[in-house]
Amino acid sequence: MAAGLLAPMIRFAIDPVLQSQEKSGDLVNVNLSVDDITDTPQRVDWEVQQVDGWYESNINRTAWVYKDENGEIVALSPICTHLGCFVSWEGSEDYPNEFYCPCHDGRYYKDGTNVPGTPPLRPLDVYEHAVENGMLYLGEPKPREGA
Ligand code: FES
Repeated sequence: MAAGLLAPMIRFAIDPVLQSQEKSGDLVNVNLSVDDITDTPQRVDWEVQQVDGWYESNINRTAWVYKDENGEIVALSPICTHLGCFVSWEGSEDYPNEFYCPCHDGRYYKDGTNVPGTPPLRPLDVYEHAVENGMLYLGEPKPREGA
């Protein structure tokens, strides 16, 4: 009987932790039709609800989204892997067809790989994604495998 009483109490005590983990794995509809994704990276902004214990807040997310030469959707994090500044597609006239970080002249190729000899030492993170009813859903940015 004591175990029967304890189980709900333990669940109540750790519930916010479980909620936070469940929320972080969610994929969110970012209001972009897959038909509108081209081979040119476009900036996509959306909000996600973050639950931390009993505190809920909305945080803004951004991705650079395009289709690669095989038609596969690529969604890259705009956060520079050097020191965290915002990276833009063709952010410098000097480096067309690249992502550019203005903080220390960081550069990445279109697939997010860091250009050797520039400050970033690893590629841009990649968002997990899914397509449902023709709409793009994005989840958490993750380091590229092998990076
Ligand atoms: S923060 Fe991007 S190059 Fe340094």
